[in-house]
Amino acid sequence: MLTPPPFPAARPRRLRRTPVLRELVREATLGAGDLAAPLFVKEGVDEPVPIGSMPGHHQHSLDSLRKEAAELAALGVRALLLFGVPAAKDADGSGADAHDGVVQRALRALRADLGEEVALVADLCLCEYTDHGHCGVLRPAGGPVPGVDNDATLERYRAIAVSQAAAGAHVVAPSGMMDGQVAAVRAALDEAGFADTPVLAYAAKYASCLYGPFRDAGEGAPRFGDRTGYQMDPGNGDEAVREALLDAAEGADILMVKPATAYLDVLWRVKREAGLPTAAYCVSGEYAMVKAAAERGWVDGERAMLELLTSIRRAGADLIVTYFAREAAALL
Ligand code: PBG
Ligand code: ZN
Repeated sequence: MLTPPPFPAARPRRLRRTPVLRELVREATLGAGDLAAPLFVKEGVDEPVPIGSMPGHHQHSLDSLRKEAAELAALGVRALLLFGVPAAKDADGSGADAHDGVVQRALRALRADLGEEVALVADLCLCEYTDHGHCGVLRPAGGPVPGVDNDATLERYRAIAVSQAAAGAHVVAPSGMMDGQVAAVRAALDEAGFADTPVLAYAAKYASCLYGPFRDAGEGAPRFGDRTGYQMDPGNGDEAVREALLDAAEGADILMVKPATAYLDVLWRVKREAGLPTAAYCVSGEYAMVKAAAERGWVDGERAMLELLTSIRRAGADLIVTYFAREAAALL
């Protein structure tokens, strides 16, 4: 960057004088088309169930999901990220790739309703479907190494990816932080005739306390232990770049950083160093913090929302997954 001339030639305030001038030179912009809305669909409910820690959000019935999706599309939101809450869970998460699984049924309905109007992105993980709540299958109890079995989990992810694509997902988004998950999903899609289905990789997903409200919504909290054996340590930035480059090499089409506002440095680095379309997931806790403070009158909720989302764009996000999608799109 050139060194600017000193004062009084330089008067940066000149361009801040009026709203028109400020808008004219604004670097990071925010539009409904940059936003993706996460949605939860719950099996076996007739009415949407409000999520207490996420005001304005629900575990949807199939009907209320269709209504919400159509409204979001009409507001200009261009992508929906779907999570399923199945009625029954088991050790292998067999509901995740069931032909009549909750997400598969939702995908077929939304694809029929909306066609190519919005991108249907299927979150690809096992934690909502396993009875233990982990993002993969477990090694045998009593064996030498406890924990999630990486490579056995990849086999499950391959089946889920194909099942989601066949049901109408435009994009699949592996979120379990297993090593090799992007390569596994990419190969499975290609072999099944879905070579044109993009993979949105949760490349740098941190082991964050900010997922708290989501775990109510998705009913996927681990029954024992935590996710630190597969999600990233919040102290690490270089590792996020390595994860992103690995995912890029494995064929990821879009790289995502999660959470967003506490990890803007990571987002910036991933965008610059991998050079792929980059997404940021502004997670449930980020939403809940703003909502809670706004409810108390401690911050202006609308302004906080727009400032946070704009900052995520400034840090390099081409796309923001956010629970604010509806509210922000209605304003923009
Ligand atoms: C699970 C998953 C989580 C989120 C998205 N997918 C939670 C977790 O890792 O426990 C969090 C989203 C949010 O908090 O909004 N694979
Ligand atoms: Zn998971």
